[in-house]
Amino acid sequence: MDLIIAKDYSDLSRRASRIIASEIKKKPDLVLGLATGSTPLGTYQELVRLYREEGLDFSRVVTFNLDEYYGISMDNPQSYHYYMFENFFKHVNIKPENIHIPDGMAGDVEAHCKKYDEEIAKYGGIDLQLLGIGQNGHIGFNEPGDELLTATHLTNLTQNTIEANSRFFKSMDEVPKQAITMGLGTIIQAKKIVLLASGKNKAEIMAELLDENAVSTKNPASFLLLHKDVTVIIDEEAAKIYRQMTQSPDSSKKLHVREVFLWPS
Ligand code: GLP
Repeated sequence: MDLIIAKDYSDLSRRASRIIASEIKKKPDLVLGLATGSTPLGTYQELVRLYREEGLDFSRVVTFNLDEYYGISMDNPQSYHYYMFENFFKHVNIKPENIHIPDGMAGDVEAHCKKYDEEIAKYGGIDLQLLGIGQNGHIGFNEPGDELLTATHLTNLTQNTIEANSRFFKSMDEVPKQAITMGLGTIIQAKKIVLLASGKNKAEIMAELLDENAVSTKNPASFLLLHKDVTVIIDEEAAKIYRQMTQSPDSSKKLHVREVFLWPS
């Protein structure tokens, strides 16, 4: 796991967008896995800037989003469809037919999920998967539990996630309780993974993840330790507890973490 500690949120967004841009330049028909939430917003803004100012070409890029709330239609401003078009897709030259997001109104959910995974496989799997992380370690909507599912599926959100996401809704009652998400298997099969975390709310889970020596279904993000090409980009606030841990004289640096760029604190 390569660790980059960025100076701040803008620095983190610039670094993430540069990695994505360089992969697109290497492979113009890149299969890009995308995430929502507040963390990747700056990365999308930077990618839009690279498209406008430097001609970064999305015309052959294929995207698959990680997840979508269940029971919410595409035109609902709270849906991840809406988020993706407003914050990214409508500002770049990506082709609508190359965009894939689970359908939150799918009637036969099981068939829809199966088709989603088949579509990913049809494109040869995901080349680069962008991830955020929940305060409880969820990735996509793979919540901590006794087991984690491998394929795309319908899942119940935990109370912790419902509360964390309620900031985007008028009332708690409006927050969806279920979502369709790629499974851990789909995510872990991506050839390259970039995980972003920003702000003090993520400091605890990031310290836990970077200090982890075992994988556990109680922390879904810990499964990323099994992957050989993960870059974690966090800002100083999200790195605060990790910094304290590794600066103490009795700390032993974890073998799986390779610090590639640490902004001097
Ligand atoms: C949601 C999304 C995740 C995201 C997480 C963190 O639950 N399903 O993909 O990583 O929230 O969101 P934020 O970046 O807003 O902290």
